[in-house]
Amino acid sequence: MREMTLEEKIGQLNQVGASIYGTTDESGYEEMAREGRAGSFLSLHDPERCNKLQRIAVEESRLGIPLIFAEDVIHGLKTVFPIPLAESCSFEPELARKTAEIAADEASACGVKWVFAPMTDIARDARWGRIAEGAGEDPYIGSLFAAARVKGFQGSGNIDEKHVAACVKHFACYGAAESGKDYNTVQLSDNNLYNAYLPPYKAAVDAGVFTVMTAFNDLNGTPCTVNAPLIDGVLRKLWGFRGVVVSDWAAVAEAEYHGYCENREDCAAEAAKAGVTVDMMGHAYDTFLLSLAKKNKKIQKRIDELCEQVLTLKYRLGLFKRPYADLSRGKDLYTREKLDVALEAAQKAIVLLKNDGTLPLKRGEKVLVLGKLAADKRTMMGCWCFPETQESTIDVLSGIREKFSADYADSADFLADVSSGDTNGYGAIICVVGETNRESGEAASRAFIGLKDEDVAMIRAAKKTGLPVVALILSGRPLALSAINSDVNALAECWHLGSVGGRAIANVLCGDFAPEGRLTASFPRETGQCPVYYSHFNTGRPYIAGQGCRCKFRDCEEGALYPFGYGLTFTKFGYSDLRAEKTKIGKGDKIEISVRVTNIGERDGAEIVQAYFRQNSCKPIRPVKSLVAFEKVRLRAGESKTVKFVLDPDRLGIIRTAALQPERAKGRCEAYVGANSEDCQKINLTIE
Ligand code: BGC
Repeated sequence: MREMTLEEKIGQLNQVGASIYGTTDESGYEEMAREGRAGSFLSLHDPERCNKLQRIAVEESRLGIPLIFAEDVIHGLKTVFPIPLAESCSFEPELARKTAEIAADEASACGVKWVFAPMTDIARDARWGRIAEGAGEDPYIGSLFAAARVKGFQGSGNIDEKHVAACVKHFACYGAAESGKDYNTVQLSDNNLYNAYLPPYKAAVDAGVFTVMTAFNDLNGTPCTVNAPLIDGVLRKLWGFRGVVVSDWAAVAEAEYHGYCENREDCAAEAAKAGVTVDMMGHAYDTFLLSLAKKNKKIQKRIDELCEQVLTLKYRLGLFKRPYADLSRGKDLYTREKLDVALEAAQKAIVLLKNDGTLPLKRGEKVLVLGKLAADKRTMMGCWCFPETQESTIDVLSGIREKFSADYADSADFLADVSSGDTNGYGAIICVVGETNRESGEAASRAFIGLKDEDVAMIRAAKKTGLPVVALILSGRPLALSAINSDVNALAECWHLGSVGGRAIANVLCGDFAPEGRLTASFPRETGQCPVYYSHFNTGRPYIAGQGCRCKFRDCEEGALYPFGYGLTFTKFGYSDLRAEKTKIGKGDKIEISVRVTNIGERDGAEIVQAYFRQNSCKPIRPVKSLVAFEKVRLRAGESKTVKFVLDPDRLGIIRTAALQPERAKGRCEAYVGANSEDCQKINLTIE
């Protein structure tokens, strides 16, 4: 750093991306690399292009400082995994670690050493399109998946050739956008911030994440990207984060549009003061920091600190020793082994919502498949992926054709013949409906999250044939499914599942794989209920069926259509013998509860046994339930197992400060154990 000019230091803080130059003209890139005016590039993952630019930085720039190539590897690069929301329905953080590790392997082989994932924004409003990118509504699940994904991307310790720096985003609380409208303002009480929204980011920091991305939104009136109490105060001082903070795309400059900063120069000064290391595409740092630093010694000192963070990241990534992508690794991409993990993740992400016994269908049976999405490969790949492996992606129809004899039509017109009495030998009609990849993800908020009219009409027409109707929902968010719920014999949420999604779906349809996913985000009945989440407050007028002035809607049944934690399989489980070792919990005691779970059906299956907790009196108030533990058990038909949870009362209470240390829960409390957030049994406890 002693050899660096101020201009070169500022260059390290500047991140530029493909779209400013278009896709073909890279001359601007080369000049920037040669002159040390950019520290990192985003949206490049072609190893030859990366190496070419890197060679210029290393061999032709004055100090030879390598570049970092960053990319949005959110759910896979060549091998595409289920969208993160879907993946979290496995309730298996270890699987998410594995898929992140494969994504890191492929990214680094492509020259990328920094990925902008995991997104750990808690999302409770399904109108928000980016609910697809996180682990859903719950801070406990969110924290487990955040930590697992960081470990998967980064491996342990310093980064080796097959790992990359992760980036937890979007700090903070981007998922709480008012009315689920992307980029919208966020207003949150301290209670909600500390207990629901901040914990997953901290879990990622505790897992050693190297970088953090700021959020586009303002939080209680201050844009996150110029929010010194949040970045410098909470993230760096309280949580001890020492790495790189990157702004979201142009978010430094947007502080002016928020009405917070006077002009773009002010934006640059405020972001630097707040501790934002890298300005992604805002061009506020490279335009204004030099003159600001010349006027202000404090800014000069801050630039030194920020530059050191970037150089440290480059050291930890091994870029000074190994700046180039190893082109021979191209053969390790999109391999059979990687696709096998994608299949496992896709199968475990599917959530069976309803089944009257129609599923599983007989393998080889003749079926009729309806709906445009059935043959839509791009939608199967999900909201954040690259088109390179689109052609070989297995859509629903191709998957079904591996297991069944299928006819296909993209709409209900085809049904005219079938309903005229001759069912043509079909055993079932499979309707594939929902939303496309483009209707999900960034800038894809929706004010209506029911099914489209033509899809509802198609399902109703299918029902009229008298044949069993199976609806498969492809979506990046919970949809409001009331309009068709009672018209179908079986209903499965199949999300956007990635490279081998169609095969995973067919394996479930024919029973080769018994579904085991459970929802990590509640499904509303109607859009107008949003946000719907299980962990709400009780209110002074909680809902009681049949009573008037209660917390409810007049024109919609109360609660989720399918709640958090919900999901079926091809067998059933019974719960018995719920007991607590003690119901009076003294100092030093743990809460020990156990339950006997029995597979009471005729097929083997997996159950996710869930434990929830409630503290009845607390100032301020606590939610009606919070998930505190779970265990996935696999039981053969007829088999039983006693599942035991040991909970520490010192870790179950309210969190009152941004340090995020929970208090001891005290007084009257309730522990719940069961199959989902609604279907569970209660034990009353008193904690001293
Ligand atoms: C998104 C980020 C993403 C960045 C870079 C932004 O629009 O909000 O999540 O990492 O673009 O592509």
